Amino acid sequence: MFQAVVKTLCVASTRSVSRGILCTRHYCKKTPTKLRVSEAISGAELGANIKVQGWVRSVRPQKTNLFLNVNDGSSLQSLQIVATSELNDPLLTFGSAVEVTGTLKKSPHQKQTVELQAEQIHVIGECNPVDFPFKIKERHGLEYIRQFPHLRCRTNVFSSLLRIRSEATSAIHSYFKENGFVQINTPVITSNDCEGAGELFQVEPPSPENKEDQNFFSVPAFLTVSGQLHLEAMSGAFSKVYTFGPTFRAENSQSRRHLAEFYMVEAEVSFTQSLEDLTKVMEDMFRSATEQILAHCAEDVDLFHKHVTPGHRDTIDATLKRKFPMITYSEAIDILNRSSEKFAFPTDWGCDLQKEHEKYLVKHCGNIPVFVTDYPYDLKPFYARDNQDRPNHTAAAVDLLVPGVGELCGGSLREERLDLLRARLEEYLDLRSFGSVPHGGFGLGFERYLQCILGVDNIKDVIPFPRFSHSCLL
Ligand code: 4AD
Ligand code: MG
Repeated sequence: MFQAVVKTLCVASTRSVSRGILCTRHYCKKTPTKLRVSEAISGAELGANIKVQGWVRSVRPQKTNLFLNVNDGSSLQSLQIVATSELNDPLLTFGSAVEVTGTLKKSPHQKQTVELQAEQIHVIGECNPVDFPFKIKERHGLEYIRQFPHLRCRTNVFSSLLRIRSEATSAIHSYFKENGFVQINTPVITSNDCEGAGELFQVEPPSPENKEDQNFFSVPAFLTVSGQLHLEAMSGAFSKVYTFGPTFRAENSQSRRHLAEFYMVEAEVSFTQSLEDLTKVMEDMFRSATEQILAHCAEDVDLFHKHVTPGHRDTIDATLKRKFPMITYSEAIDILNRSSEKFAFPTDWGCDLQKEHEKYLVKHCGNIPVFVTDYPYDLKPFYARDNQDRPNHTAAAVDLLVPGVGELCGGSLREERLDLLRARLEEYLDLRSFGSVPHGGFGLGFERYLQCILGVDNIKDVIPFPRFSHSCLL
């Protein structure tokens, strides 16, 4: 059917060319303007002969008229199509792909401002509504649609999520561009284990006789767990750098906030000796990206805040109104120990903060994001700067904890002092031997950021195709 349409247009076009300029103009006048649904419903082209292509979201045949809703992913709203009953076709079903030409008119109905009076409707791709896992008029839950990773983009909720994710990506890039950061594409394949936590996926070509001394890169190679070390190298020439890319952790976790493949935003700032320089970047980036998303994706965000996570809008509004509080790890431990809550995990000084502790701290601080600084030295990776304090030995590290999610960002000042580092790690030394300056940086989990602003409970619902342990890949 689609080929037939293209063929007709081609014939007309050739004929017009052979007849000269006048005919070409005549032909152009008659060619319907192709519009996206979002452009059509904006009303700017009222009265125009247009063509839209998309997927049917509802079909309502009546005695003399046929009503369709068509969506092409350009907005949450669909375009109402009105046609005479003669244009009805048994193949016009929920989920089918169609191409509609007609005249854009003011709608007499309250629900929408414009509608397309159809002259032609072509079914481009059929869809059997019995086999299609989503049903017309049903509001399917996130858990249900997660079972269909290749199809869930056809639901309102997931297409809204993907538009928000796309806007969030450009908002984050805009923030860094406007603030003088240089973007660095850090490698995906690397030989370093930046975090030293051993959560690495090894990369080798498949080869049955692959022996240990025959690595493809001559050394063992892994998928990156963080671009930090490469950013640190670049921060030796650019004082502000960032990277935003896929990151991999072989954590055997089924949790609602861990993935094996996720996106991380990482920044590195040179000539800084203060954690506040880093927390300012984290807070400003969070604010500016969130404000851009709320302004540019209002309808999509509303869908989440109204139907998926009711009440979450208040949390976001409160978050944007107040400055994020900052407490030290030692203060956090005092708060936990003073509370009447019974925690499952210990809260002695030196303990890692668990999800239950993070949740309590966020609530205690007014249910808005909170920075926790100066963690026990032994809890943080080798690169975190030694505060050289005693008896409670701490490092200049900071985590940003947010409502519902827990840790959103992790960062630190970096240990730039050779003698102190030497004691900790030999390989890190070369980076510090030539014009080393005090610097620091942080990483933000992009999916956790989306969970945070939308209130989505499970991280698998904010990434197009989730990868986690024991999942089947698509
Ligand atoms: O705290 P992390 O491990 O810090 C680093 O990797 C530093 N090298 C970053 C830096 O300083 N440049 O990870 C940073 C953030 C976490 O706070 C969390 O939001 C997210 O990345 N994250 C994950 N998100 C989803 N799934 C996982 N398995 C994640 N692991 C970390
Ligand atoms: Mg961390």
